[in-house]
Amino acid sequence: MTNRQQHALANIDAVVEKAEAYYDSDDADNFYFNIWGGEDIHIGLYDLTDDIAEASRLTVQEMARIASPIAESTKVLDIGAGYGGAARQLAKAYGCHVTCLNLSRTQNATNNRLTKQHGLDELIDVVHGNFEHIPATDASFDLVWSQDAILHSARRKDVIHEVFRVLKPGGRFVFTDPMQSDNCPEGVLQNVYDRIHLKNLGSFGFYRAAARQAGFNERHISNRTDQLLAHYSRVREELQSQYARMVQVSSKSYVDNMSTGLMHWISAAKKGHLAWGIMCFEKK
Ligand SMILES: C[S@@+](CC[C@H](N)C(=O)[O-])C[C@H]1O[C@@H](n2cnc3c(N)ncnc32)[C@H](O)[C@@H]1O
Repeated sequence: MTNRQQHALANIDAVVEKAEAYYDSDDADNFYFNIWGGEDIHIGLYDLTDDIAEASRLTVQEMARIASPIAESTKVLDIGAGYGGAARQLAKAYGCHVTCLNLSRTQNATNNRLTKQHGLDELIDVVHGNFEHIPATDASFDLVWSQDAILHSARRKDVIHEVFRVLKPGGRFVFTDPMQSDNCPEGVLQNVYDRIHLKNLGSFGFYRAAARQAGFNERHISNRTDQLLAHYSRVREELQSQYARMVQVSSKSYVDNMSTGLMHWISAAKKGHLAWGIMCFEKK
C-alpha cells in the first residue's frame, strides 16, 4: 500500500472513531436521550402529531409497512441501532428477533437495560461493532433496518455491499438517512457537516446507484424531506423550551453548539439543500 493510500485509510478510520467518541460522550448521550425522542434518535413523521417521541415511532411503523412482510420468523438486523427503540417496537409488534449492531457502548448499555426492563431480552441481541464490517455470516438476515446512521460513514458504498452480503436472497433493506439533495450546489453545507463531524452526505441518487451496483432491486423510495425540516424545527424548539434543564444535563457549550447546528440544518433544508426519506431495496 502506498503512503497516500495508508493516509486515506487512516482518515476513513478516524471518521468511525469520531462517530464512536461522539455518541459515547456524556453530552451527546444526555442530549439525545432527553430531547431527541427518548429511546429513538431519528427523524419522525409529523403528519399526525407534533410530539417528537410519537412521530419517531410513526417512522418505525411506516418503515415496517414498507418492508413488509415481517413475522415472528423474520430475522432482523438494525445497523446503527442507537438505544434500540425501533428494535423493541418491532419485537413487540411482530415477535421477530432483532440484532442491534451499534458502535456506541454507552448507547448499547442503555439499550440492554431498556430491553431487559421491557422483558424483550430473548428477542433482542445487542452487538458492539462497525456496520462497515458487519460481524455476521453471509445470508444470515431476512431484513436489514437502519435509521439515520449511515450518514456517519465515510464508506457508504461498502456499507451497502455489507448489507447485501448479510441478507438472504429475497431479503430486504429498509433505511432512512439525512442526505443532501441531488441538485445541492457545491460548498454550501460545511456548517451542516460540522454539527456532527461529517465530511459529506449521501443523496437519493447516490444510494439508488450504490444499491443497484451492489445487486439490489428497488422496491420503494419515498422522498419525505418535509419531515426533516419538521423534525429539526421541533427538536430545536424543544431544546429552547428546556434550555435551563438541558444545560444541567449536557454542558452549556454543547447545548449552544447544538442549537446553532440545528439552525444550520433548518436553514439548509429550507433552501432545498437537504433530503430525507424512506428507501427499500430487495436482494435478487
Ligand atoms: C442518529 S443515531 C440513530 C440511532 C438509531 N438508529 C435510532 O434511530 O434511534 C446514529 C447511530 O449510528 C451509530 N453509528 C454511527 N456510525 C456507526 C458505525 N460505523 N457502525 C455502527 N454504528 C454506527 C451511532 O452509534 C448512533 O447510534
